[in-house]
Amino acid sequence: MNITSLSTDQAPPISVPLRFFAVAPLFLLLAALMLALSDGNLFAAAQTPALLAATHCITLGFMAMVMMGATQQILPVVIGSPVPASRWVAWFTSVPLGAGTLSLCGGFMLGNAHLLNLAWPLLGTAFLVFIVASMLSLWRASARNVTKTAILLSICALAVAVSLGILLVRGFVTGAVLDYAALSAAHISLALGGWVMLLIVGVSYQVVPMFQITPAYPKWLTAVLAPALFAILLLNLALLLIGAEQLWIASAGISFWLLAAGFALVTLKLQRQRRRKVTDATLSFFRLGMLSLLLAALFYLASLLLPAVALQFRLMSAIAFIAGFAMSLIQGMLYKIIPFLVWFHLFRGGINAVKAGIPNMKEVIPDRLMWWHLWLHGGTLLVALLGPWLSAAAWLTALGLLLQGMLLSYAVFTGIVVYRRTLRRIELLAV
Ligand code: HEM
Repeated sequence: MNITSLSTDQAPPISVPLRFFAVAPLFLLLAALMLALSDGNLFAAAQTPALLAATHCITLGFMAMVMMGATQQILPVVIGSPVPASRWVAWFTSVPLGAGTLSLCGGFMLGNAHLLNLAWPLLGTAFLVFIVASMLSLWRASARNVTKTAILLSICALAVAVSLGILLVRGFVTGAVLDYAALSAAHISLALGGWVMLLIVGVSYQVVPMFQITPAYPKWLTAVLAPALFAILLLNLALLLIGAEQLWIASAGISFWLLAAGFALVTLKLQRQRRRKVTDATLSFFRLGMLSLLLAALFYLASLLLPAVALQFRLMSAIAFIAGFAMSLIQGMLYKIIPFLVWFHLFRGGINAVKAGIPNMKEVIPDRLMWWHLWLHGGTLLVALLGPWLSAAAWLTALGLLLQGMLLSYAVFTGIVVYRRTLRRIELLAV
Protein backbone atom coordinates (compact mmCIF):
# COMPACT_ATOMS: atom_id res chain seq x y z
CA MET A 1 0.00 0.00 0.00
CA ASN A 2 1.43 3.36 -1.00
CA ILE A 3 0.47 6.14 1.44
CA THR A 4 3.05 8.69 0.32
CA SER A 5 0.40 10.81 -1.42
CA LEU A 6 -1.47 11.26 1.89
CA SER A 7 -1.06 14.29 4.20
CA THR A 8 -0.99 12.10 7.30
CA ASP A 9 0.33 14.94 9.50
CA GLN A 10 -3.01 16.75 9.04
CA ALA A 11 -5.08 13.82 10.40
CA PRO A 12 -7.63 14.67 13.14
CA PRO A 13 -7.56 12.79 16.48
CA ILE A 14 -8.66 9.14 16.09
CA SER A 15 -11.70 9.86 18.30
CA VAL A 16 -13.16 12.09 15.54
CA PRO A 17 -13.89 9.38 12.94
CA LEU A 18 -14.21 6.52 15.45
CA ARG A 19 -17.21 7.99 17.27
CA PHE A 20 -19.18 7.99 13.99
CA PHE A 21 -18.05 4.44 13.14
CA ALA A 22 -18.97 3.15 16.62
CA VAL A 23 -22.51 4.56 16.56
CA ALA A 24 -23.40 3.72 12.94
CA PRO A 25 -23.86 -0.09 13.30
CA LEU A 26 -26.44 0.48 16.08
CA PHE A 27 -28.72 1.97 13.43
CA LEU A 28 -28.61 -1.33 11.54
CA LEU A 29 -30.07 -2.95 14.66
CA LEU A 30 -32.74 -0.27 14.72
CA ALA A 31 -33.49 -0.74 11.01
CA ALA A 32 -34.00 -4.45 11.73
CA LEU A 33 -36.41 -3.55 14.53
CA MET A 34 -38.41 -1.23 12.23
CA LEU A 35 -38.70 -3.95 9.59
CA ALA A 36 -39.71 -6.52 12.20
CA LEU A 37 -42.40 -4.19 13.58
CA SER A 38 -43.97 -3.66 10.15
CA ASP A 39 -47.28 -5.35 9.58
CA GLY A 40 -48.43 -6.90 6.31
CA ASN A 41 -46.37 -6.64 3.16
CA LEU A 42 -43.70 -4.07 3.76
CA PHE A 43 -42.80 -3.73 0.09
CA ALA A 44 -46.39 -3.58 -1.22
CA ALA A 45 -45.77 0.09 -1.96
CA ALA A 46 -42.87 2.49 -1.66
CA GLN A 47 -43.08 4.84 1.31
CA THR A 48 -44.92 2.65 3.81
CA PRO A 49 -44.15 4.00 7.34
CA ALA A 50 -41.93 1.04 8.27
CA LEU A 51 -40.07 1.19 4.95
CA LEU A 52 -39.51 4.95 5.31
CA ALA A 53 -38.30 4.48 8.88
CA ALA A 54 -36.01 1.53 8.06
CA THR A 55 -34.68 3.34 4.95
CA HIS A 56 -33.66 6.38 7.00
CA CYS A 57 -32.16 4.25 9.79
CA ILE A 58 -29.90 2.87 7.06
CA THR A 59 -29.34 5.98 4.90
CA LEU A 60 -29.04 8.55 7.72
CA GLY A 61 -28.18 6.52 10.83
CA PHE A 62 -25.75 4.14 9.17
CA MET A 63 -24.59 5.49 5.80
CA ALA A 64 -24.54 9.25 6.51
CA MET A 65 -23.03 8.61 9.96
CA VAL A 66 -20.09 6.70 8.44
CA MET A 67 -19.76 8.99 5.42
CA MET A 68 -19.70 12.14 7.55
CA GLY A 69 -17.09 10.62 9.88
CA ALA A 70 -15.01 9.42 6.94
CA THR A 71 -15.21 12.80 5.15
CA GLN A 72 -13.78 14.50 8.25
CA GLN A 73 -10.82 12.13 7.91
CA ILE A 74 -10.55 12.27 4.11
CA LEU A 75 -10.55 16.08 3.74
CA PRO A 76 -7.38 16.62 5.80
CA VAL A 77 -5.57 13.44 4.79
CA VAL A 78 -6.45 13.11 1.09
CA ILE A 79 -7.19 16.73 0.12
CA GLY A 80 -4.62 18.12 2.56
CA SER A 81 -6.90 20.66 4.23
CA PRO A 82 -8.02 20.15 7.86
CA VAL A 83 -11.65 20.59 8.90
CA PRO A 84 -11.80 23.69 11.16
CA ALA A 85 -12.41 22.95 14.89
CA SER A 86 -12.55 19.25 14.12
CA ARG A 87 -13.57 18.08 17.62
CA TRP A 88 -16.46 20.57 17.80
CA VAL A 89 -17.59 19.75 14.30
CA ALA A 90 -17.54 16.05 15.20
CA TRP A 91 -19.75 16.66 18.27
CA PHE A 92 -22.15 19.00 16.49
CA THR A 93 -22.64 16.60 13.60
CA SER A 94 -22.66 13.16 15.27
CA VAL A 95 -24.99 13.99 18.18
CA PRO A 96 -27.75 15.87 16.27
CA LEU A 97 -27.50 13.37 13.40
CA GLY A 98 -28.06 10.44 15.77
CA ALA A 99 -30.83 12.17 17.73
CA GLY A 100 -32.47 13.57 14.56
CA THR A 101 -32.49 10.17 12.88
CA LEU A 102 -34.09 8.58 15.95
CA SER A 103 -36.86 11.18 16.00
CA LEU A 104 -37.39 11.10 12.21
CA CYS A 105 -37.70 7.30 12.16
CA GLY A 106 -39.87 7.30 15.30
CA GLY A 107 -42.03 10.00 13.70
CA PHE A 108 -42.45 8.02 10.47
CA MET A 109 -43.18 4.77 12.29
CA LEU A 110 -45.71 6.20 14.77
CA GLY A 111 -47.08 8.92 12.48
CA ASN A 112 -46.15 11.35 15.27
CA ALA A 113 -45.98 15.05 14.29
CA HIS A 114 -44.07 16.07 17.46
CA LEU A 115 -41.25 13.68 16.68
CA LEU A 116 -41.12 14.86 13.07
CA ASN A 117 -41.06 18.47 14.26
CA LEU A 118 -38.15 17.62 16.53
CA ALA A 119 -36.32 15.72 13.80
CA TRP A 120 -35.91 18.35 11.14
CA PRO A 121 -34.14 21.06 13.23
CA LEU A 122 -31.78 18.41 14.63
CA LEU A 123 -30.98 16.98 11.21
CA GLY A 124 -30.80 20.48 9.76
CA THR A 125 -28.18 21.43 12.41
CA ALA A 126 -26.10 18.29 11.81
CA PHE A 127 -26.02 18.78 8.05
CA LEU A 128 -25.53 22.56 8.20
CA VAL A 129 -22.49 22.22 10.48
CA PHE A 130 -21.11 19.42 8.31
CA ILE A 131 -21.68 21.23 5.01
CA VAL A 132 -20.24 24.57 6.22
CA ALA A 133 -17.16 22.89 7.78
CA SER A 134 -16.52 20.74 4.70
CA MET A 135 -16.96 23.68 2.32
CA LEU A 136 -14.51 25.77 4.37
CA SER A 137 -12.00 22.95 4.25
CA LEU A 138 -12.44 22.50 0.49
CA TRP A 139 -12.22 26.24 -0.11
CA ARG A 140 -8.92 26.48 1.81
CA ALA A 141 -7.41 23.45 0.06
CA SER A 142 -4.73 24.43 -2.40
CA ALA A 143 -4.76 21.05 -4.17
CA ARG A 144 -6.85 20.80 -7.33
CA ASN A 145 -7.71 17.22 -7.98
CA VAL A 146 -10.58 15.10 -9.23
CA THR A 147 -11.42 13.77 -5.75
CA LYS A 148 -11.82 17.32 -4.47
CA THR A 149 -14.23 18.14 -7.32
CA ALA A 150 -16.30 15.00 -6.72
CA ILE A 151 -16.52 15.66 -2.95
CA LEU A 152 -17.49 19.30 -3.59
CA LEU A 153 -20.29 18.24 -5.96
CA SER A 154 -21.45 15.50 -3.57
CA ILE A 155 -21.79 18.06 -0.76
CA CYS A 156 -23.74 20.44 -3.04
CA ALA A 157 -26.11 17.56 -3.88
CA LEU A 158 -26.44 16.75 -0.18
CA ALA A 159 -27.40 20.35 0.63
CA VAL A 160 -30.29 20.26 -1.87
CA ALA A 161 -31.35 16.70 -0.91
CA VAL A 162 -31.51 17.59 2.78
CA SER A 163 -33.44 20.83 2.09
CA LEU A 164 -35.99 18.84 0.07
CA GLY A 165 -36.21 16.20 2.84
CA ILE A 166 -36.91 18.92 5.40
CA LEU A 167 -39.49 20.53 3.10
CA LEU A 168 -41.25 17.15 2.74
CA VAL A 169 -41.31 16.53 6.50
CA ARG A 170 -42.63 20.04 7.17
CA GLY A 171 -45.23 19.37 4.48
CA PHE A 172 -46.32 16.11 6.18
CA VAL A 173 -46.70 17.91 9.52
CA THR A 174 -48.45 21.06 8.32
CA GLY A 175 -50.46 19.41 5.54
CA ALA A 176 -49.07 21.94 3.03
CA VAL A 177 -50.08 21.45 -0.59
CA LEU A 178 -46.89 20.39 -2.37
CA ASP A 179 -46.04 18.23 -5.35
CA TYR A 180 -44.95 15.39 -3.05
CA ALA A 181 -44.24 12.91 -5.85
CA ALA A 182 -41.85 15.27 -7.69
CA LEU A 183 -40.14 16.54 -4.52
CA SER A 184 -39.74 13.02 -3.19
CA ALA A 185 -38.23 11.80 -6.49
CA ALA A 186 -35.82 14.78 -6.49
CA HIS A 187 -34.92 14.16 -2.83
CA ILE A 188 -34.14 10.50 -3.47
CA SER A 189 -32.15 11.09 -6.68
CA LEU A 190 -29.99 13.84 -5.15
CA ALA A 191 -29.43 11.98 -1.87
CA LEU A 192 -28.52 8.63 -3.45
CA GLY A 193 -27.36 9.56 -6.97
CA GLY A 194 -25.75 12.80 -5.79
CA TRP A 195 -24.31 12.65 -2.30
CA VAL A 196 -23.75 8.89 -1.99
CA MET A 197 -22.69 8.13 -5.58
CA LEU A 198 -20.43 11.18 -6.05
CA LEU A 199 -18.70 10.71 -2.70
CA ILE A 200 -18.02 7.05 -3.47
CA VAL A 201 -16.77 7.94 -6.97
CA GLY A 202 -14.38 10.60 -5.61
CA VAL A 203 -13.06 8.41 -2.80
CA SER A 204 -12.67 5.41 -5.12
CA TYR A 205 -10.30 7.41 -7.36
CA GLN A 206 -7.90 7.40 -4.38
CA VAL A 207 -8.58 4.23 -2.43
CA VAL A 208 -8.95 1.67 -5.23
CA PRO A 209 -5.42 2.22 -6.61
CA MET A 210 -3.94 2.76 -3.12
CA PHE A 211 -5.56 -0.03 -1.06
CA GLN A 212 -6.18 -2.55 -3.83
CA ILE A 213 -2.91 -1.85 -5.71
CA THR A 214 -4.54 -1.40 -9.11
CA PRO A 215 -3.63 0.95 -11.99
CA ALA A 216 -5.12 4.46 -11.63
CA TYR A 217 -8.57 5.25 -13.09
CA PRO A 218 -8.28 6.50 -16.68
CA LYS A 219 -7.81 10.29 -16.86
CA TRP A 220 -10.71 10.78 -19.31
CA LEU A 221 -13.05 9.09 -16.82
CA THR A 222 -12.00 11.03 -13.74
CA ALA A 223 -12.17 14.32 -15.69
CA VAL A 224 -15.78 13.93 -16.81
CA LEU A 225 -17.63 11.40 -14.64
CA ALA A 226 -18.49 13.40 -11.51
CA PRO A 227 -19.38 16.67 -13.34
CA ALA A 228 -21.49 14.70 -15.86
CA LEU A 229 -23.39 12.82 -13.11
CA PHE A 230 -23.99 16.09 -11.28
CA ALA A 231 -25.20 17.85 -14.45
CA ILE A 232 -27.67 15.00 -15.14
CA LEU A 233 -28.99 15.21 -11.58
CA LEU A 234 -29.52 18.97 -11.92
CA LEU A 235 -31.31 18.45 -15.22
CA ASN A 236 -33.45 15.74 -13.60
CA LEU A 237 -34.28 18.13 -10.74
CA ALA A 238 -35.35 20.84 -13.21
CA LEU A 239 -37.46 18.36 -15.21
CA LEU A 240 -39.21 17.14 -12.05
CA LEU A 241 -39.89 20.67 -10.79
CA ILE A 242 -41.39 21.87 -14.08
CA GLY A 243 -43.48 18.68 -14.35
CA ALA A 244 -41.86 17.56 -17.62
CA GLU A 245 -43.11 14.49 -19.51
CA GLN A 246 -42.06 11.05 -18.28
CA LEU A 247 -40.08 10.47 -21.46
CA TRP A 248 -37.66 13.29 -20.58
CA ILE A 249 -37.33 12.17 -16.97
CA ALA A 250 -36.67 8.60 -18.11
CA SER A 251 -33.98 9.88 -20.54
CA ALA A 252 -32.17 11.62 -17.68
CA GLY A 253 -32.52 8.41 -15.63
CA ILE A 254 -31.08 6.26 -18.42
CA SER A 255 -28.10 8.63 -18.88
CA PHE A 256 -27.39 8.52 -15.14
CA TRP A 257 -27.50 4.73 -14.96
CA LEU A 258 -25.34 4.30 -18.06
CA LEU A 259 -22.61 6.42 -16.49
CA ALA A 260 -22.97 4.62 -13.15
CA ALA A 261 -22.71 1.23 -14.88
CA GLY A 262 -19.65 2.48 -16.80
CA PHE A 263 -18.00 3.42 -13.50
CA ALA A 264 -18.76 -0.05 -12.07
CA LEU A 265 -17.33 -1.80 -15.15
CA VAL A 266 -14.12 0.27 -15.14
CA THR A 267 -13.64 -0.37 -11.40
CA LEU A 268 -14.15 -4.13 -11.84
CA LYS A 269 -11.65 -4.09 -14.73
CA LEU A 270 -9.05 -2.22 -12.62
CA GLN A 271 -9.53 -4.72 -9.81
CA ARG A 272 -8.83 -7.58 -12.23
CA GLN A 273 -5.56 -5.84 -13.15
CA ARG A 274 -4.40 -5.47 -9.51
CA ARG A 275 -0.78 -6.34 -8.87
CA ARG A 276 -1.27 -8.47 -5.72
CA LYS A 277 -3.59 -11.25 -6.79
CA VAL A 278 -4.62 -12.34 -3.24
CA THR A 279 -8.29 -11.74 -2.50
CA ASP A 280 -9.26 -10.24 0.83
CA ALA A 281 -12.68 -9.60 2.32
CA THR A 282 -12.54 -5.83 1.82
CA LEU A 283 -11.82 -6.26 -1.89
CA SER A 284 -14.73 -8.71 -2.14
CA PHE A 285 -17.04 -6.18 -0.43
CA PHE A 286 -15.95 -3.66 -3.07
CA ARG A 287 -16.58 -6.07 -5.93
CA LEU A 288 -19.99 -7.02 -4.56
CA GLY A 289 -20.73 -3.30 -4.42
CA MET A 290 -19.79 -2.74 -8.06
CA LEU A 291 -21.79 -5.79 -9.23
CA SER A 292 -24.76 -4.45 -7.27
CA LEU A 293 -24.42 -1.08 -8.98
CA LEU A 294 -24.66 -2.87 -12.34
CA LEU A 295 -27.73 -4.75 -11.08
CA ALA A 296 -29.34 -1.51 -9.88
CA ALA A 297 -28.89 -0.07 -13.40
CA LEU A 298 -30.42 -3.21 -14.97
CA PHE A 299 -33.41 -3.16 -12.61
CA TYR A 300 -34.01 0.50 -13.45
CA LEU A 301 -34.03 -0.30 -17.19
CA ALA A 302 -36.36 -3.28 -16.52
CA SER A 303 -38.77 -0.94 -14.70
CA LEU A 304 -39.02 1.15 -17.89
CA LEU A 305 -39.45 -1.81 -20.18
CA LEU A 306 -42.01 -3.69 -18.03
CA PRO A 307 -44.58 -1.10 -16.83
CA ALA A 308 -46.82 -3.78 -15.23
CA VAL A 309 -44.13 -4.59 -12.65
CA ALA A 310 -42.37 -1.21 -12.69
CA LEU A 311 -42.87 -0.63 -8.94
CA GLN A 312 -41.22 -3.93 -8.02
CA PHE A 313 -38.24 -3.25 -10.28
CA ARG A 314 -37.89 0.32 -8.97
CA LEU A 315 -37.76 -1.04 -5.44
CA MET A 316 -35.23 -3.68 -6.46
CA SER A 317 -33.09 -0.98 -8.07
CA ALA A 318 -33.19 1.08 -4.84
CA ILE A 319 -32.39 -2.01 -2.73
CA ALA A 320 -29.48 -2.99 -5.03
CA PHE A 321 -28.16 0.58 -4.81
CA ILE A 322 -28.55 1.12 -1.04
CA ALA A 323 -27.91 -2.36 0.39
CA GLY A 324 -25.82 -3.77 -2.46
CA PHE A 325 -23.71 -0.85 -3.68
CA ALA A 326 -23.51 1.71 -0.87
CA MET A 327 -23.59 -0.62 2.15
CA SER A 328 -21.08 -3.08 0.65
CA LEU A 329 -18.60 -0.32 -0.11
CA ILE A 330 -19.09 1.42 3.21
CA GLN A 331 -18.62 -1.82 5.17
CA GLY A 332 -15.62 -2.86 3.06
CA MET A 333 -14.06 0.57 3.62
CA LEU A 334 -14.70 0.43 7.36
CA TYR A 335 -12.80 -2.86 7.54
CA LYS A 336 -9.90 -1.13 5.77
CA ILE A 337 -10.02 2.29 7.45
CA ILE A 338 -10.38 1.17 11.09
CA PRO A 339 -7.26 -1.09 11.09
CA PHE A 340 -5.39 1.64 9.18
CA LEU A 341 -6.36 4.36 11.69
CA VAL A 342 -5.50 2.17 14.68
CA TRP A 343 -2.11 1.26 13.22
CA PHE A 344 -1.36 4.79 12.04
CA HIS A 345 -2.25 6.58 15.32
CA LEU A 346 -0.28 4.04 17.37
CA PHE A 347 2.70 4.24 15.02
CA ARG A 348 2.90 7.97 15.75
CA GLY A 349 3.96 6.95 19.30
CA GLY A 350 7.53 6.76 17.94
CA ILE A 351 10.21 4.55 19.44
CA ASN A 352 8.05 3.46 22.43
CA ALA A 353 5.37 2.33 20.00
CA VAL A 354 7.86 0.05 18.28
CA LYS A 355 9.04 -1.30 21.65
CA ALA A 356 5.44 -1.86 22.79
CA GLY A 357 4.85 -3.96 19.67
CA ILE A 358 2.06 -2.26 17.72
CA PRO A 359 -0.18 -4.71 15.84
CA ASN A 360 0.02 -4.71 12.07
CA MET A 361 -3.15 -3.84 10.14
CA LYS A 362 -4.12 -7.50 9.65
CA GLU A 363 -4.13 -8.08 13.43
CA VAL A 364 -6.61 -5.36 14.40
CA ILE A 365 -9.86 -7.01 13.22
CA PRO A 366 -9.77 -10.79 12.65
CA ASP A 367 -9.96 -11.70 8.96
CA ARG A 368 -12.52 -14.46 9.50
CA LEU A 369 -14.94 -11.99 11.06
CA MET A 370 -14.82 -9.87 7.89
CA TRP A 371 -15.48 -12.96 5.72
CA TRP A 372 -18.46 -14.01 7.88
CA HIS A 373 -19.79 -10.51 7.52
CA LEU A 374 -19.34 -10.58 3.75
CA TRP A 375 -21.33 -13.83 3.41
CA LEU A 376 -23.99 -12.60 5.79
CA HIS A 377 -24.26 -9.34 3.88
CA GLY A 378 -24.50 -11.16 0.52
CA GLY A 379 -27.29 -13.38 1.93
CA THR A 380 -29.17 -10.39 3.34
CA LEU A 381 -28.93 -8.62 0.01
CA LEU A 382 -30.36 -11.62 -1.86
CA VAL A 383 -33.38 -11.91 0.44
CA ALA A 384 -33.92 -8.15 0.42
CA LEU A 385 -34.06 -8.25 -3.40
CA LEU A 386 -36.83 -10.85 -3.13
CA GLY A 387 -38.76 -8.48 -0.85
CA PRO A 388 -40.88 -6.78 -3.53
CA TRP A 389 -42.12 -10.25 -4.66
CA LEU A 390 -42.25 -12.21 -1.42
CA SER A 391 -43.59 -10.68 1.80
CA ALA A 392 -41.78 -13.17 4.09
CA ALA A 393 -38.47 -11.75 2.83
CA ALA A 394 -38.91 -8.71 5.11
CA TRP A 395 -38.42 -10.91 8.19
CA LEU A 396 -35.27 -12.50 6.81
CA THR A 397 -33.95 -9.09 5.78
CA ALA A 398 -34.56 -7.87 9.36
CA LEU A 399 -32.70 -10.88 10.75
CA GLY A 400 -29.79 -10.30 8.35
CA LEU A 401 -29.55 -6.63 9.31
CA LEU A 402 -29.69 -7.49 13.00
CA LEU A 403 -26.81 -9.96 12.70
CA GLN A 404 -24.79 -7.55 10.53
CA GLY A 405 -25.28 -4.72 13.04
CA MET A 406 -24.09 -7.02 15.86
CA LEU A 407 -21.08 -8.26 13.90
CA LEU A 408 -20.00 -4.79 12.80
CA SER A 409 -20.44 -3.37 16.33
CA TYR A 410 -18.23 -6.18 17.61
CA ALA A 411 -15.60 -5.48 14.92
CA VAL A 412 -15.48 -1.72 15.66
CA PHE A 413 -15.37 -2.46 19.39
CA THR A 414 -12.46 -4.90 18.82
CA GLY A 415 -10.55 -2.18 16.93
CA ILE A 416 -11.09 0.31 19.77
CA VAL A 417 -9.99 -2.23 22.41
CA VAL A 418 -6.80 -3.08 20.47
CA TYR A 419 -6.03 0.64 20.16
CA ARG A 420 -6.59 1.40 23.84
CA ARG A 421 -4.64 -1.62 25.08
CA THR A 422 -1.62 -0.87 22.91
CA LEU A 423 -1.76 2.83 23.78
CA ARG A 424 -1.65 1.93 27.47
CA ARG A 425 1.46 -0.21 26.85
CA ILE A 426 3.10 2.69 24.99
CA GLU A 427 2.27 5.11 27.82
CA LEU A 428 3.68 2.70 30.43
CA LEU A 429 6.94 2.51 28.49
CA ALA A 430 7.10 6.31 28.38
CA VAL A 431 7.00 6.72 32.21
C1 HEM B 1 -32.64 15.91 6.77
C2 HEM B 1 -32.54 14.72 6.25
C3 HEM B 1 -33.67 13.98 5.58
C4 HEM B 1 -35.02 14.14 5.71
C5 HEM B 1 -35.74 15.12 6.62
C6 HEM B 1 -35.67 13.18 4.85
C7 HEM B 1 -37.03 13.06 4.67
C8 HEM B 1 -37.66 12.21 3.77
C9 HEM B 1 -39.07 12.15 3.55
C10 HEM B 1 -40.09 13.03 4.21
C11 HEM B 1 -39.30 11.17 2.63
C12 HEM B 1 -40.66 10.72 2.10
C13 HEM B 1 -40.97 11.34 0.79
C14 HEM B 1 -42.42 11.08 0.39
O1 HEM B 1 -42.97 10.07 0.74
O2 HEM B 1 -43.01 11.94 -0.25
C15 HEM B 1 -38.03 10.60 2.29
C16 HEM B 1 -37.84 9.54 1.41
C17 HEM B 1 -36.62 8.98 1.16
N1 HEM B 1 -35.39 9.44 1.57
FE1 HEM B 1 -35.04 10.93 2.88
N2 HEM B 1 -34.71 12.45 4.22
C18 HEM B 1 -33.48 12.91 4.63
C19 HEM B 1 -32.25 12.47 4.21
C20 HEM B 1 -32.05 11.41 3.37
C21 HEM B 1 -30.77 10.93 2.95
C22 HEM B 1 -29.41 11.55 3.37
C23 HEM B 1 -30.99 9.86 2.14
C24 HEM B 1 -30.02 8.98 1.42
C25 HEM B 1 -28.71 8.99 1.58
C26 HEM B 1 -32.43 9.69 2.01
C27 HEM B 1 -33.06 8.72 1.26
C28 HEM B 1 -34.42 8.60 1.09
C29 HEM B 1 -35.06 7.54 0.33
C30 HEM B 1 -34.34 6.39 -0.38
C31 HEM B 1 -36.44 7.76 0.41
C32 HEM B 1 -37.56 6.88 -0.20
C33 HEM B 1 -38.00 5.90 0.89
C34 HEM B 1 -39.19 5.03 0.47
O3 HEM B 1 -39.65 5.13 -0.64
O4 HEM B 1 -39.67 4.26 1.32
N3 HEM B 1 -33.05 10.65 2.78
N4 HEM B 1 -37.05 11.26 2.99
